[in-house]
Amino acid sequence: HSTSPMVVVANRLPFCLGTDPDTGKLIRKQCAGGLVTAVAPVVVETQGLWVGWSGLHTEDENVEIPEADPNDQSPTAGLKSSQVLPVTMPKKVFSDYYNGCCNATFWPLFHSMPDRATFQADKWEAYREVNREFARLTVEAVKRLRESHPDSVPLVWLHDYHMMLAANTIREKCDELNMPIKMAFFLHIPFPSWDIMRLFPWDDELLQGVLGCDSIGFHIDDYCLNFIDCCQRRLGCRVDRQQMLVEHNSRTISINPLPISIPYERFVQLAEKAPKVVKNNPQEQLLLGVDRLDYTKGLVHRIRAFETLLEKHPELKEKVTFLQVAVPSRTDVKEYQELKEELDQLIGKINGQFSTPNWSPIRYIYGCVSQDQLAAFYRDSSVAVVTPLRDGMNLVAKEFVACQTGEPGVLILSPFAGAGISMHEALHVNPYETNEFSDTIYRALTMPKDEREMRMKQLRRRERDHDVNFWLRNFLKTVDCLSDVDKSQV
Ligand code: UDP
Ligand code: G6P
Repeated sequence: HSTSPMVVVANRLPFCLGTDPDTGKLIRKQCAGGLVTAVAPVVVETQGLWVGWSGLHTEDENVEIPEADPNDQSPTAGLKSSQVLPVTMPKKVFSDYYNGCCNATFWPLFHSMPDRATFQADKWEAYREVNREFARLTVEAVKRLRESHPDSVPLVWLHDYHMMLAANTIREKCDELNMPIKMAFFLHIPFPSWDIMRLFPWDDELLQGVLGCDSIGFHIDDYCLNFIDCCQRRLGCRVDRQQMLVEHNSRTISINPLPISIPYERFVQLAEKAPKVVKNNPQEQLLLGVDRLDYTKGLVHRIRAFETLLEKHPELKEKVTFLQVAVPSRTDVKEYQELKEELDQLIGKINGQFSTPNWSPIRYIYGCVSQDQLAAFYRDSSVAVVTPLRDGMNLVAKEFVACQTGEPGVLILSPFAGAGISMHEALHVNPYETNEFSDTIYRALTMPKDEREMRMKQLRRRERDHDVNFWLRNFLKTVDCLSDVDKSQV
């Protein structure tokens, strides 16, 4: 697509490195998350470079990235080791940055849950330091690209709340070295209102950091407008809300709503070849939840609504099973450990109360499932329950509809996910309203086939037409990195 070579800079590489227990050699392991799912195919396709953390704690810079396993079917299989620049940091600094600042400050704050956020100067200092290190390696990546494409203006694309301070350092270094670049930032989570943002003691520095880019993307209008508002009120920037422009340090920065999406056709193909999910009996209906184990995902609210459903409809006994996949996430952070405890207890209690010799109401998978396997779950479930308390976009909702290649099911969606803005034909429910929520699940389980078909058809068509390539092309337009041929297709 792009006429410029691209460097993607994100906290994580699109895979983790681990040691093979048999051979002792380093191997690639897959990791789940919306960012990787969306961006990895883009870097493979544009033959770009990826700067990110390898998952290892070593100060040895020359860690050798293994090539993909020949059987690797994941979106990162096409990424050659020469396309990857691993960032390695001492364990303490990295943990202060990742657990202490990214996961314990920015994640809850940006999801408008300030009571869960902590603000500590030493963690913020670690964040600064790690961003400087990412910036240093990014400049190395730009040098490398300039060697292979001497007259090019590389595009540096920073991702997510981990990289909010890297832009200005990168720009200064590249200016010094006379290497022109373009720079863009995309936030994969919500951007909160000024009221919430101002709780962060170093909010001015943060906003200035992001404004170091030429183009800034968020999923939806609301997040863009929140950001513009913060720039105006905290930094006194001149802004244009209609055109979504911010003036800062004599530069004009464009702010762009760019709803992220999925590789739609890839999921359709996965669904078409996935083996059938084994059920208790042919009539059994599956309710499906797929999430990282994160307090923003509303898992406890969802399970409570299911409990209420079972209380109100005893006839559903042995006929409906809730399959919840919960991927372990950020397990060093207290809030995540507490959530796991709470969920284990709640699920144990409900299974204890309602199980029969042949059936348990909740099937709980605490682990990461491959997307091939997820495709089977998505296809064979009657209802997907995607009910975060707050979520930037939520790709699971989109993957579910892409994989609905058989008997049409129903999507239940929270209005507090970015996906809730456009997926009109889902059943929308406020996850805090337990009673309504349980009624909505019942409505989904008993919805006539005609209605299911009509809703699913529209949902699928929209996601097919607005897939991750559409997102990428729109993004490249904002940095003027599309050839005229590509532009005509947008
Ligand atoms: N995912 C996965 N295996 C799992 C659970 C999730 O590969 O067991 C993937 C899923 O296919 C999706 C991503 O993780 O692409 C989750 O993205 P989403 O936007 O829904 O949530 P996030 O984790 O980014 O908050
Ligand atoms: C979300 C964030 C990503 C992050 C992913 C998994 O999708 O937007 O930046 O990579 O969650 O979280 P983790 O902390 O394991 O990288």
